[in-house]
Amino acid sequence: MHTLSNPMIPNSEAETPLPKNLVLIGFMGSGKSSVGRLLATNLGFQFIDTDALVVQAAGMPIADLFAQQGEAVFRNYEASALASLVGRQRLVVATGGGIVTREENVALIRRIGFVVALTADEGVIFERVSRNNKRPLLQTPNPRETISALLAKRAPLYAATANLLVDTTSKTHAGVAEEILAATRCPA
Ligand code: S3P
Repeated sequence: MHTLSNPMIPNSEAETPLPKNLVLIGFMGSGKSSVGRLLATNLGFQFIDTDALVVQAAGMPIADLFAQQGEAVFRNYEASALASLVGRQRLVVATGGGIVTREENVALIRRIGFVVALTADEGVIFERVSRNNKRPLLQTPNPRETISALLAKRAPLYAATANLLVDTTSKTHAGVAEEILAATRCPA
């Protein structure tokens, strides 16, 4: 039985209680969006991506927001997106990898729901994020070193914020989703 930091909601179909929301945190390339979509489908919850809320609110892609207004403005949008979810239910929320770097976000995340941190080995993260070049923080001369430095700062924050840590290295999205479902469907 896992200790949940938030009230449970009844789920008559499964005859087990569920967390009111699931929040996925973790580094870029840890699989939050893909796994989050699978979880939402499986639970009949709505899938929400804080990055998508930022794009909607800012009216431009994240890369443009970083380039034109800087990271701090992006982080303000991200914090507002997160705050807008407080009080809602039956959501699976995928968050941006840097969301835990603001302390007030950590408190909000824990208020919103059961927090799952997805982790992966550094080499696997590098391999996954190398598949696209849309992430502004990795547009550096040595993305591998950037990942290493960011991970060193953030890994302890993910671990401290999460109710559950799931290592995604060499697992499929479906396998990760199953593991999370098994861990969150606690016997009544
Ligand atoms: C960021 C991660 C990105 C996005 C932005 C900043 C970060 O989201 O929020 O580029 O600081 O790690 P993903 O984790 O979904 O790539």
